[in-house]
Amino acid sequence: MSTIDNLKDRTTPVFSPDDVTVIFVLGGPGAGKGTQCERLVARYGFAHLSAGDLLRAEQNRPDSEFGDLIRHYIRNGLIVPMEVTIALLEAAMRQILDGPEPDAAAAAAPRPNKGGKFLIDGFPRKLDQAIKFEEAVVPARFVLFYDCPEHEMERRLLERGKTSGREDDNAESIRKRFRTFVETSMPVVDYFEKQNRVVKVDAVRQPDQVFETTQKELEKRLQL
Ligand code: ADP
Ligand code: C5P
Ligand code: MG
Repeated sequence: MSTIDNLKDRTTPVFSPDDVTVIFVLGGPGAGKGTQCERLVARYGFAHLSAGDLLRAEQNRPDSEFGDLIRHYIRNGLIVPMEVTIALLEAAMRQILDGPEPDAAAAAAPRPNKGGKFLIDGFPRKLDQAIKFEEAVVPARFVLFYDCPEHEMERRLLERGKTSGREDDNAESIRKRFRTFVETSMPVVDYFEKQNRVVKVDAVRQPDQVFETTQKELEKRLQL
């Protein structure tokens, strides 16, 4: 991943917020980030980049030099060093933005990512990630924060664990992930909150109701 070296010294964003709209989607493990992002993609044509999904794909890529490192961090619910995650996100954004223009037949269909609108799901989970991403990649518009109590998130994750195949959807990893969320990731939400950049959504209700609130909040703030 050549972007890593390049990222270290970079102090200006590679993308302009005039061309690229980024929404950070945060919330504890199991709050429903992925579920809501999927709906937003279907309804508004956002591109959805889940940092966790990108890390899992990199972990499983046979030639990756980071496979073992990522596996260790994910199993223990710890935050992977930011250079790895930011490089993966930047590469995925670039691929989407540089993707082929639709041909004549496809032109009638909605563009998959009209206007470069990105939902960055599960990121930033640590303050250094937030600062570096906005400095070197692009500033985000705001944070969409899904608020859910731990007992409900735990119930959802244990249920998801029956079929997800995820190595971290077990009671012990879940405990560690909650701890990391409280100690390391909530300070990121507080950091954005101090800048009045957090849109908080109650994530306890049914997915349809959560989505309704999400739509209202986004439509107030973005031209969708
Ligand atoms: P996250 O990406 O925040 O970890 P997911 O979207 O994967 O969360 O949701 C975790 C689990 O909870 C999934 O099995 C999902 O189907 C379920 N789920 C998501 N939203 C809700 C909701 N509002 N009410 C009940 N279950 C939900
Ligand atoms: O968001 P998700 O639950 O899929 O993330 C799974 C794991 O991936 C996290 O518990 C963490 O170990 C790692 N991760 C990370 N940095 C991020 C997002 C996820 O280290 N920004
Ligand atoms: Mg998820």
